Amino acid sequence: MSTPQNPLGDRQISRKSLLKAAALAGAVPVLIGGGTALARDTAAAGGTAPLTPDCHDGDAPTGEQIEGPYFKPGSPLRTNLVTPGTQGTPLTVSGYVFGRNCAPISGALLDFWQADVNGNYDNSGYTFRGHQFSDANGAYTLGTIIPGLYPGRTRHIHVKVQAPGQPILTTQLYFPNEPRNATDSIFDPALVMTVRQVGNGSQASFDFVLNVNGTPKPSTSPTGNSPSPSPSSSSGGTTTWQAGTSYKVGDQVTYNGVTYVCIQAHTAFVGWEPPNVPALWSRR
Ligand SMILES: [Fe+2]
Repeated sequence: MSTPQNPLGDRQISRKSLLKAAALAGAVPVLIGGGTALARDTAAAGGTAPLTPDCHDGDAPTGEQIEGPYFKPGSPLRTNLVTPGTQGTPLTVSGYVFGRNCAPISGALLDFWQADVNGNYDNSGYTFRGHQFSDANGAYTLGTIIPGLYPGRTRHIHVKVQAPGQPILTTQLYFPNEPRNATDSIFDPALVMTVRQVGNGSQASFDFVLNVNGTPKPSTSPTGNSPSPSPSSSSGGTTTWQAGTSYKVGDQVTYNGVTYVCIQAHTAFVGWEPPNVPALWSRR
């Protein structure tokens, strides 16, 4: 792989590259420390070819990984998992959520969970657990720390990503140059983030490519191009919440006798019942 000579590299310009160029020229998310550079321009800055999957039309979606034993539903809505007193090396993970055709997906749900600096998961609370939604450009940014190691695994971050009303991608993100990458049977080099040192912390980037074609809308329209209308939740109707159902903004459901209004389009699944997911359902 050759070393790119500019932020777009010397590859054929893809739609994603154009988006990157627009991001670099304009509304670039500000990262920890006030820097403006996304880790995605590492190739231009440091000459190291990115290991994260590049998105070109027709590319394979981001690979699935096992959920593992420590997923916990109902994580809080937050982009920064670092709380006062948190120990560990600061880490910012940022990137975009794309569809298979490289169209950015806004409103995608990203639910992250990881071990603390000592390699422990918080199974009683929600330390180092949080979900967020990609912005209008499909971008996300997570503030966290570099997770600690625990027996049997290399260093990793768990994540579930879901475009509005689409199936869930469960996967894991990895770090480059980790000795245990070579011995972890789950490790997938295609899921290695681009990571660089910035001050006393690290910045990482990873772009997800979901197995979704087209550009899901932010769900402000009741109709749109949904392939299958939802007969169970037409306007004004209230149904009982049910896992597996696709809900759109404004849908009303009842759960344990309480009525909720959908505030973020999604496909429901067990564990994300309305009381557990305030980012998706609001009590009426
Ligand atoms: Fe894990």
